[in-house]
Amino acid sequence: MLAGFVTFEGIDGAGKTTVSRLVAEFLRAKGHAVFLTSEPTKTWLGDAVRHAYDDDVGAVAESFLFLADRAAHVEEIRSHLENGELVLCDRYADSTYAYQGARLKGIVKDPIRFLQQASKGWTLEPDLTVLLRVTPNLGLKRIQGRPTRIRFEELPFLKEVAANYDGLSRSRRFVVLDGARTAEVVAREATMAIENRLTPRRRRGAGSPP
Ligand code: TMP
Repeated sequence: MLAGFVTFEGIDGAGKTTVSRLVAEFLRAKGHAVFLTSEPTKTWLGDAVRHAYDDDVGAVAESFLFLADRAAHVEEIRSHLENGELVLCDRYADSTYAYQGARLKGIVKDPIRFLQQASKGWTLEPDLTVLLRVTPNLGLKRIQGRPTRIRFEELPFLKEVAANYDGLSRSRRFVVLDGARTAEVVAREATMAIENRLTPRRRRGAGSPP
């Protein structure tokens, strides 16, 4: 049984939600205990985040709301990891680094570092982060038909977010997949990456320190 913490990241329209659902399905079919979750969460803190970007409360307030939503979510994730489950999360801390990292430009010095520092000590580091990479043009094209669109979905902004993700993905924690292909193909590759990376040595044993 695989256990550990895997996050899915990418710009809007990269296919994270469909791919993470398929990966959960594939892994459950192989007998793994999978807890699939997402951010912003479906709690009132997640609702607060959604209000924040609908009403444009400003980049600073919005950033701290994403962090607050995550702080509560980390406790839920931790309890599933302690149960020995494999936790899959559709967006996590790298979304804040990539998106609010772009939003806070010109407001704080070195925004990504600022957000990483603010997250230190209480966030759980994923064992693996799957970055689904698509061009901002393709991402935008894919989300054009969605009923609800949000402010973040504009080309110049998405280009900055994509560049932030590219920088973040230099860390060894990442595996980068071409998200332009069908969700099925991408999900099979992501599943293989999870099976390869979460080897017995890297598995989080129940009761091991966070
Ligand atoms: P979703 O479309 O994946 O549900 O995400 C909603 C939007 O929230 C999406 O445009 C990305 C944005 N977002 C951030 O800006 N920062 C974050 O930390 C998270 C989790 C999402």
